[in-house]
Amino acid sequence: NEGALWGARFASGPSAELAALSKSTHFDWALAPYDIAGSRAHAVALHAAGYLSDQQLAGMRDALDRLAADVASGAFAAADSDEDVHGALERGLIERAGTDLGGRLRAGRSRNDQIATLVRLYLLDHAKTIAHGILRLIDAIVAQAEEHPDAIMPGRTHLQHAQPILLAHHLQAHGWPLVRDLERLRDWASRARVSPYGGGALAGSSLGLDPALVARELGLDRPAENSLDGTAARDVVAEFAFIAAQIGIDLSRFAEDVILWNTREFGFVTLDDGYSTGSSIMPQKKNPDIAELARGKAGRVVGNLTGLLTTLKGLPIAYNRDLQEDKEPVFDSVDTLELLLPAFAGMVATMRFDTVRMAQLAPEGFSLTTDVADWLVRQGVPFRDAHEISGALVQACEQRGIGLQDAADELLAEVSPHLTPAVRDVLTIEGSVASRDGVGGTAPVRVAEQRAELIARAQAA
Ligand code: ARG
Repeated sequence: NEGALWGARFASGPSAELAALSKSTHFDWALAPYDIAGSRAHAVALHAAGYLSDQQLAGMRDALDRLAADVASGAFAAADSDEDVHGALERGLIERAGTDLGGRLRAGRSRNDQIATLVRLYLLDHAKTIAHGILRLIDAIVAQAEEHPDAIMPGRTHLQHAQPILLAHHLQAHGWPLVRDLERLRDWASRARVSPYGGGALAGSSLGLDPALVARELGLDRPAENSLDGTAARDVVAEFAFIAAQIGIDLSRFAEDVILWNTREFGFVTLDDGYSTGSSIMPQKKNPDIAELARGKAGRVVGNLTGLLTTLKGLPIAYNRDLQEDKEPVFDSVDTLELLLPAFAGMVATMRFDTVRMAQLAPEGFSLTTDVADWLVRQGVPFRDAHEISGALVQACEQRGIGLQDAADELLAEVSPHLTPAVRDVLTIEGSVASRDGVGGTAPVRVAEQRAELIARAQAA
């Protein structure tokens, strides 16, 4: 077992079957830059504790720099014989620094405290990329809302016409969950910026190494309070996987709107050619594949979260090899979102809205009936009666196959003496949306205010 990190107490090397099962370089190679950053920090701690001379520290740093450059260029890669990224990089270090110097670095650290730290460093970096992707999507939402500040659309509950709302209000309703996702990432990072490095395999180091120094060198806030917890805890990974899943779900819900809006029956949006796909058999087809992939990939990131939680359940505390199974799901969630977010933002930024059609459909389905009821309340009618009267008006209009605004004076009077012709003042979609002017409502003035708040919260996160 030449070159491996362990083996002296074994009479034989690992069987081929074990080596194949155990191997992780095909996915943990993504941690190579972080492993080298950890080694640089650890070298500083070894030097501070007197285990490396000034000259040895300089030689170690130089070898690690050359190794990092070779990893980045691809000149150094994992070999078939390497079990994991840690073993491969120690081999690379020894090739560059020699056995005597290179062999000193492993003192006082374990792959257990290393891996627990590296996965945090990796996720902290990718959290920034993902947050950036979310910000670009929020920008696209805000730009569309700004371009259509007064456009009115049918607002729906149960997918049925309910009350008219502003398109900008609807678009911004997809912005707020994304703002909360940004805030979740920020809150998560405050827990993630803790360094298990120095915890060793489970119990801490006997060499007088300073875990706080390593944490500082790595740009983390502080060392883990408990070496056992530090090496064994993966709630930080699970929490990240949850946030990734929630982002997937938020995109999926928006995607579902886009898919519906893009049907012939709705006809609310046209997707840009650059953000739609065609059919191999039906030459006329133009499909909303980005939205559908978003909806589909939400299932995938939810699966990554549930798989990870299932792996963690029931593990005895301290490191167990099961923990190696944390990386593939969360790496996949990262890759998925990093691909999806830019495509989704591009789709939203380039969508064209048919605001004329939206406005035409907005009053259909008797969506102004609540406005009639509210008008009656303002005339002093108790809401219970107002609800009855407006409901009866809907029934009368439905029987005659007309809309509320087409009801003649006689019909209004027949339904209720409270229904004077003045009620027609509220039977416009513009009047309806303008009247919902409480905080958080769909009145144009409130939606504009809300947009400023949305932008501010996104930028602050
Ligand atoms: N590759 C392992 C992981 O991803 C770290 C190595 C720990 N191995 C061990 N035998 N203690 O979790």
